[in-house]
Amino acid sequence: MDRRNFIRIVGLGVATATLSSTLSACSDNTNKVDYGWNGPTASESDIRLKLLAYAILAPNPHNKQPWLVKLIDSNRIELLVDQSRLLPETDPLARQIHIGQGCFLENLAIAASHYGYLADIAYFPQGEYSNRVVELKAVARIDLIKRSDMQEDPLYKQLLIRQSNKRSYDNSYLTGEQKLELKRLPFISNSQLTIVDNEADNGYLQKVLTQAMRIEGTNKQRDLETIKMFRFNDQEIEQYRDGFGLAHSGVSGIKKVIAETFFLDRAKTELDPTQFAQQSVDLAREISESTSTFALLVSKENSRLAQVKAGRDYCRLNLTTTAMGIAQHPMSQVLQEYDDMLPLQAEFKRYFKIDAQHTVQMLVRLGKAPKTEHTPRRLVKNLLLT
Ligand SMILES: Cc1cc2nc3c(=O)[nH]c(=O)nc-3n(C[C@H](O)[C@H](O)[C@H](O)COP(=O)(O)O)c2cc1C
Repeated sequence: MDRRNFIRIVGLGVATATLSSTLSACSDNTNKVDYGWNGPTASESDIRLKLLAYAILAPNPHNKQPWLVKLIDSNRIELLVDQSRLLPETDPLARQIHIGQGCFLENLAIAASHYGYLADIAYFPQGEYSNRVVELKAVARIDLIKRSDMQEDPLYKQLLIRQSNKRSYDNSYLTGEQKLELKRLPFISNSQLTIVDNEADNGYLQKVLTQAMRIEGTNKQRDLETIKMFRFNDQEIEQYRDGFGLAHSGVSGIKKVIAETFFLDRAKTELDPTQFAQQSVDLAREISESTSTFALLVSKENSRLAQVKAGRDYCRLNLTTTAMGIAQHPMSQVLQEYDDMLPLQAEFKRYFKIDAQHTVQMLVRLGKAPKTEHTPRRLVKNLLLT
């Protein structure tokens, strides 16, 4: 069963008995078809585990799933960064990893509202660490408070549907009304959303995104970090339940079988990533040129707290565009902080008149494309710190 079938059944409001068996089927580890979602089980009585099953569906860099969770007393959760799941080559300051923490918190808070709970979030309860280090201190402590007047967040309905759609788009524009809706989003932080959709700026951005991918591919360690998270076939997806593969860029059916059988080879690619890097540049050019609307999420601060809050905002943006039927896809290379990207990043910020001290936390493509398969997720139990 995929996430969309699940939501369809829930949406129809079928009898509890049917729903329960559906939930059990989803969480059955012996089900070798779906690695996208595994919970909550129908009999699960711990609200925290139920909510974590939704939180784990959050967007996160390279689908690393860099989350660790401590369950405390009966209603408290602590979220920490999993230090074994960082991306030191492409995300040397772990900024994106902290955006991923914010996304997790947002999914969790939204799911809590559905079950009648307020997720009371205290950020960095043991103290905030600097944005140059990652310490084994909680990013957030979440107290779940049952409230009889809790309203379900309307974005709850998008949790199982949301995805990062890496396909080519069709150069469609958002309508004025759609742009206004996004600009009016009530963000948690003071993030600013800038929409780019005029021909000159699009042309500039398409070049920058392609050039940024070219720069990224000039370093073997960076390539290897991405290749490590690329899943070369279904067996790898089943084994690791993280990362992303061809299906998540919309390649399916016979094309996928042929590519995986005859062209994709982990050992060869790791030995010499040149072709992988070149194909990434070609793909970056193709998908950015297929896009006529981009959005930038900019924050004034870049503390760990600002990054986490930007993540919550980013997640709301992705869930909102999902509700509006708009495909969304981050392209982060030009935002990354390794030395050889910095000159292009500075030029890009100057072009868009972004204050040099401010941080572009996310840059995304927006448009129209059929949905892809969902990226896999590990099991909630793999996140638990005992
Ligand atoms: C901070 C951040 C940066 C990301 N950067 C990229 C990117 O540069 N390229 C890309 O294809 N996807 C990017 N993504 C999307 C992730 O690959 C995606 O969230 C992850 O694979 C999980 O898939 P899903 O969002 O479809 O659930 C980014 C996501 C986040 C949260």
